[in-house]
Amino acid sequence: CGIVGYMGNREAYGILVGGLHRLEYRGYDSAGVALVNEKGELNIHKCKGKVADLENYAKDKDTDGSMGIAHTRWATHGEPNDINAHPHYSESASLAIIHNGIIENYSVLKEALMENGYSFRSTTDTEVLVQLIEYIRNNNHCSLLEAVRSALKKVVGAYAIAVVEKGNNDEIIAAKQSSPLVVGIGEDEYFLASDATPIIEYTDRVVYIDDGQIAVIRRDQPLKILSLDNEEGSVDIKKLDMSIGQLEKGGYPHFMLKEIYEQPKTIIDCTRGRISADGSSVTLSGVMANKERFLNANRIIFVACGTSWHASLIGERLIEEMCRIPVEVEYASEFRYRNPVINKGDIVIAVSQSGETADTLAAVELAKERGAFIFGICNQVGSSIARATDSGTYIHVGPEIGVASTKAFTGQVTVMAMIALTLAHEKGTVTPEYFSEVIRGLQRLPELIERVLESDGRISELSKIFTYSRNFLYLGRGYNYPVALEGALKLKEISYIHAEGYPAAEMKHGPIALIDSEMPVVAIATADNIYDKTVSNIQTVKARGGKIIAVVTEGDTVVRAIADHCIEVPPIIECLTPILVSVPLQLLAYHIAVNKDRNVDQPRNLAKSVTVE
Ligand code: G6P
Repeated sequence: CGIVGYMGNREAYGILVGGLHRLEYRGYDSAGVALVNEKGELNIHKCKGKVADLENYAKDKDTDGSMGIAHTRWATHGEPNDINAHPHYSESASLAIIHNGIIENYSVLKEALMENGYSFRSTTDTEVLVQLIEYIRNNNHCSLLEAVRSALKKVVGAYAIAVVEKGNNDEIIAAKQSSPLVVGIGEDEYFLASDATPIIEYTDRVVYIDDGQIAVIRRDQPLKILSLDNEEGSVDIKKLDMSIGQLEKGGYPHFMLKEIYEQPKTIIDCTRGRISADGSSVTLSGVMANKERFLNANRIIFVACGTSWHASLIGERLIEEMCRIPVEVEYASEFRYRNPVINKGDIVIAVSQSGETADTLAAVELAKERGAFIFGICNQVGSSIARATDSGTYIHVGPEIGVASTKAFTGQVTVMAMIALTLAHEKGTVTPEYFSEVIRGLQRLPELIERVLESDGRISELSKIFTYSRNFLYLGRGYNYPVALEGALKLKEISYIHAEGYPAAEMKHGPIALIDSEMPVVAIATADNIYDKTVSNIQTVKARGGKIIAVVTEGDTVVRAIADHCIEVPPIIECLTPILVSVPLQLLAYHIAVNKDRNVDQPRNLAKSVTVE
């Protein structure tokens, strides 16, 4: 799931392994490295497990060389084991490859290669690709670059690859199709990675490789970009806007906790320059530049996955309520395969923290083909989705390293509230009083989140009571129904406890059967226009012996009298409650996972950035 490469004058091994550590947050199950040393020997070391296991394994091996490639793998074809780990090498062991993505037509290619006498060590699609490159190289007596180019023309699928060869410590050939790849340009050295995090400590000059492009990295030569048809492309160097401090834990035991605590600041970063200091206006340039399109939109369709999908459900409520534009929310993976009805007047908003989620990117491409206007809400600047959209708004919450999304979620909802406000102001669909109140709420959010964070100690105590529960139910209504879904997702992602989010009133149509004294129910019951209804739902749980943890507005007495435990959040206008309520739910999930000694930042089987479908 992560690629790193280096070519320069330093020892490559340390840089490569350091880069793999930086990419650990993406999730993986095995790791490996290939180096070509001064003598031209190609040394490959790889094993199942963590990067630390690789370091241990390679301790007494030959890791010399000033160029190489390295990889962390997240199994798609073939189980996680030493053999299936990358780099893969060709029949004669003269070529090594690392690959992210999936080669869809690998079985036909494999058959053809087997007929030509090739045998395979692993069950991966990647090994097929490296064998194909070698086959072409041997048959056509061509350069490595030529062989890679011809092989890629035969391949169907998604990839970011890097290839090196024995006897050649001056060249790395890399290529990209639907999987991210960035080249960092230093002084007489090059870095290669799936995202900028491994590069930032060395250089802030990067080139994002586009789909269908090959990057030719040669010692002491300028970077060359070619298309699969051999046309030379321009090298567009961008300056990275990220600091190394943003990637460190800063004294917190986990990135996730650091990121939860960063939220007062990330909300400020997200709204900076967008809300005027006197609170009289909101300006999102991406929306204003396409004002007519937005104002005349027949419909807005959000496409997203995971936590971003939950944020989109809140976006739906915000835009419908404030702007009276019909909104739909789709899982990107469903949308892309069901021949969706899209008309010219539709706006598709793609929401993605990483900007690299394969399904979301494919949904964007599909909607684009059908003539929709595409708007992006991304965090990762320069990411594939950000580049594929017509316009957009970055959430600017800084790199999110913990696999379970926290600050990106609150940043996404904040941007959605600002989009709704911008449009509502233009359309005149909210009163000036309401408009001002929402802006005031956004401006006060950082201080109010600080107040919520003060309950951390209490939530940590509370978490001890529920560490060994086997199931959890999360209930919410209206704006907080998606927060119930997100709260449940946080818990299951990092503690591995089964949890379900449900609209509180819908509980009586099924989940109620699950309730007994063993079942903790997290009920969101903030002071809103359906508060009384939610109270009745909570009473139903109580009557069946369920243990109630309620999230309520400060000063609440009614729910406090019924619930077993209460967590308070300060009052705020209803449409912004999701941002405040999600914080204690993040903390609850975090503490339960820590109590269970789980790998909070890198939960099993999950990846931060899912670049395969
Ligand atoms: C993965 C991550 C989730 C994330 C989802 C969508 O599953 O583990 O935390 O919500 O992908 O990612 P995106 O980067 O598109 O928001």
